[in-house]
Amino acid sequence: MRPEPDRARHLISLTDLSGEDLTELVERGCAVSAGAATSSGLRGRVVGVYFTRTSTRTRTAFSAAALRLGAGLISYGPGDLQVNTGETLHDTGRVLARMLDVLVIRTAGPPEEMAALAAQNRMPVINAMSADEHPTQALADLTTLRLRFGAITGLRVLYVGEGNNTAAALALALARFPGAELHLRTPPGYGLAERVTRQAKEYGGLVTERHDMDALPGEVDVVYTTRWQTTGTTKPDPHWRDTFAPFHVGQQLMDRYPDAFFMHDLPAHRGEEVAAEVLDGPRSIAFDQAENKMHSATAVLEWAVGA
Ligand code: CP
Repeated sequence: MRPEPDRARHLISLTDLSGEDLTELVERGCAVSAGAATSSGLRGRVVGVYFTRTSTRTRTAFSAAALRLGAGLISYGPGDLQVNTGETLHDTGRVLARMLDVLVIRTAGPPEEMAALAAQNRMPVINAMSADEHPTQALADLTTLRLRFGAITGLRVLYVGEGNNTAAALALALARFPGAELHLRTPPGYGLAERVTRQAKEYGGLVTERHDMDALPGEVDVVYTTRWQTTGTTKPDPHWRDTFAPFHVGQQLMDRYPDAFFMHDLPAHRGEEVAAEVLDGPRSIAFDQAENKMHSATAVLEWAVGA
């Protein structure tokens, strides 16, 4: 029998992390980005990667990180596990926990799905994106900000677009850093979940939200946007494109903030949420963000197993 740890280090929501954990993960991600040794940290361990939704960055980031750390890897697609034939997520988690050291999972379902897999409490479960939150995206985003600006404290971010899982994680993460500001401009009906705003404010963060592009903040350090169709999902409202149209990051918006950098969680649709000249322009750090997903995935895997 494998020994039972006292309590697995799950990362299902950023609220699972203490402020110290969050800072440690960001600093470790920066160190890995700068070339800190990563080999053998997970040698002899096995990481499971279970994605029921499409992914280019996150799945590759965790898979590459696990392999670079010396772990073995088992990758499951949406049709591979017996949950498709009726086995419960609780039982699935109990079984996988006896064979795997970490499970990285992306689902389209509610947080209860990941909680059911995590109930076994001996194998860490890492949320690689759920319907409500994308915590490892926020870790990559903070790592990118820390590398670019030297500190996260006091940074001002203008977020333009849907208040989706990326926005939720960004709000919960930035709110832990004194003086950091997050100003959201979200289409009406597509705002940030109220529980996220409440939690971010409890952390002491400054989070503002409007459903138009009026009264923009005077100065910001970053303009951030996200795909209009998160994971390619369609929206029930047939007129949603009209609703989203004003929430586009073009050169005109960037010209308003001549010193600001541009961030995007990717994948991008040039001509929809962002103009090509912005995404591919000199102030875009979106592809640094993408690379930093692997460095922060390395930090998360090490943290999860206590390596
Ligand atoms: N940003 C992000 O999560 O990318 P993938 O969907 O490609 O993993």
